[in-house]
Amino acid sequence: MLQNVQRVQFKTLGDERGKLIVLEELSAQCPFDVKRVFYIFDTTPGTVRGKHAHHQMRQMLVCISGSCTIRCDLGNGKVTDYELNWPDQGLLIEGLVWHDMLDFSKDAVLLVLASEHYNEADYIRKYEDFTREVQENAQRNQT
Ligand code: TYD
Repeated sequence: MLQNVQRVQFKTLGDERGKLIVLEELSAQCPFDVKRVFYIFDTTPGTVRGKHAHHQMRQMLVCISGSCTIRCDLGNGKVTDYELNWPDQGLLIEGLVWHDMLDFSKDAVLLVLASEHYNEADYIRKYEDFTREVQENAQRNQT
């Protein structure tokens, strides 16, 4: 498990009628204030989305239908692929993590809960800017 990336197993409520999952802000299921929700669907086969990191934003990703892969890169050589293929699986991404979203199945719906409103200034879209910021943070933490 990468630092800044955590798999979260959601508690499923259910009875003979079926299943239900509740994601409530500031809970074990989602440890931040949710300011924004967006979802990605009808993705063209072979597409890779994301390809960015955030300065501040925290996010919880849930593939509520179908499957996809989230590739998380800490900028220090550590890269891990997380497959999301069931609605009770969350991926919590916090801090500096370059993430790609790929291998979307045709029926994939990727739900994202975000801790911040949309703000382009919070995005790091150039990989070299990302690795520079990772290195600056590492140096700051050493001093
Ligand atoms: P983009 O960041 O390219 O999506 P992804 O990271 O999933 O590949 O966003 C696509 C477009 O949607 C882009 O023009 C920005 C816009 N957008 C918003 O306006 N608000 C949002 O909350 C998000 C996530 C994107």
